[in-house]
Amino acid sequence: MSVHASQQPRITVRKLKEMKAQGEKIACLTAYDVSFAQVLDNNGVDVVLVGDSLGMVVQGLETTLPVTMDEMVYHGQAVSRGLKHAFLILDMPFMSDATIEQAVANAGRFMKQAGANMVKLEGGADQKELVSTLTRLGIPVCAHIGLQPQRVHKLGGYRVQGREPDMAESMLEDARVLEQAGADMLLLECVPAELAAKITRQSTIPVIGIGAGSACDGQILVLYDVLGISAGKIPRFSRNYMKPSADIAGAVQLYVDEVRRGLFPGTEHSF
Ligand code: KIV
Repeated sequence: MSVHASQQPRITVRKLKEMKAQGEKIACLTAYDVSFAQVLDNNGVDVVLVGDSLGMVVQGLETTLPVTMDEMVYHGQAVSRGLKHAFLILDMPFMSDATIEQAVANAGRFMKQAGANMVKLEGGADQKELVSTLTRLGIPVCAHIGLQPQRVHKLGGYRVQGREPDMAESMLEDARVLEQAGADMLLLECVPAELAAKITRQSTIPVIGIGAGSACDGQILVLYDVLGISAGKIPRFSRNYMKPSADIAGAVQLYVDEVRRGLFPGTEHSF
């Protein structure tokens, strides 16, 4: 199943919303350079995220916190050059959205200099004003809730979020507020599958999950986990697709196929 990106129209926010409405699953992966971006684009990936996970998987840092705007723009430009079909999201790095003014300047830089189609930012209802400001300026936003790696020190570690009833209720409310503020996409990281399913049902915008169960409208993984080249233990919610595949293109195609058919994630990848 080789899908030639040049024959496919460019994915848009509108197309992603149609996919949700039609129950067509959205396959997303991270990328950090042009070569991998081309492989993803040629093999059916709908959305490519230049995540600040690049701090960990490319730079060898312990957390995503030191990643800078310049680094994100550099990697964003490289990935952007490799995409003809897929939708490109860039991650706002830690402190780049500390004030509305900084966030507007930095998100604008992603759109103008790095070819982003959307920016992703971590935070719940507290990001309402920022999301509505970016929306007013025509900058599509993906709001990242659940486990927010940029808040790892505040959270006291990387753990599943929303297990307790009050936390689950407040995440449902975060999702409602962010959609009302204008977010065009939600990303749920490490959220119990049942809660993620409720958020997906209540939202009219696409909900993408990582460690959030199979009911989400789409799935995302860190590319290097999928290729089995991340240092250390692969997270429970991920899967090494190189094991059953002959090459990288085959691994990406298998991931896309399993996401589309609702085979990934299985219960063993969910909480
Ligand atoms: O930075 C990143 O790669 C992410 C994914 C884990 C969704 O935010």
